[in-house]
Amino acid sequence: MKLVIANWKMNKTLPEVRAFVETFSREIESVKNVTVGIAAPFPFLAAARDPQERWWVVGQDCSAEKSGAFTGEVSADMLASERCRAVLIGHSERRRHFGEGEEILAKKLTRAAEALLQPVLCVGETLAEREAGKTEAVLRRQLSIFSGAGAVAYEPVWAIGTGRNATPEEAEETMAFIARELSGKLDAPPILYGGSVTPDNAAGLVRCRSFAGFLVGGASLDPHTFSAICRSAG
Ligand code: PGA
Repeated sequence: MKLVIANWKMNKTLPEVRAFVETFSREIESVKNVTVGIAAPFPFLAAARDPQERWWVVGQDCSAEKSGAFTGEVSADMLASERCRAVLIGHSERRRHFGEGEEILAKKLTRAAEALLQPVLCVGETLAEREAGKTEAVLRRQLSIFSGAGAVAYEPVWAIGTGRNATPEEAEETMAFIARELSGKLDAPPILYGGSVTPDNAAGLVRCRSFAGFLVGGASLDPHTFSAICRSAG
């Protein structure tokens, strides 16, 4: 079973979420062999949920703290009580815009595990890091906090929202490195690819040996486009 997660980021209003769900409820019928997740903004987790539970709702982030006086934060326990099944941890936008590093992300992974949410740890190098030959060192550091439960999403930062996806060869080379790095862990976690995935480039990427699914940003906002990607992954 592959895993394909839509990452809506800070997009959509409530009416737009409802319209998506209405259309996607029909589209999902033709998606086979894929667990589908929708990482909706916090206020819309309930609205993004499928009454028939054919797809998961997923948190885009969770707090490093368990509960208490942390205005504006959303805890892993809250996500679990909204029936989220998984949570993204360490998306590159969290790392870049909110200064999240391994120390805080390790705590988030712990909070997710305590709440029985599957963490999806997002890792990836910037263009400067890739060009300086530092990709493996960066990924090794980012993966060092991963306990083995959940999934890893390889999202090269230079491919996110840029329209420049990794080629299947580039993706495979790096995902194989990630798989080797994680081979000592209890279970081999699924490795997802993310970064400018579209229905057009999905077919090439699914042929990567290490491919276990996608994390899809921009192309997940439209229910037809997103379901086309889900179908290619299956
Ligand atoms: P993108 O985003 O598909 O728009 O590049 C992917 C992501 O940030 O998860």
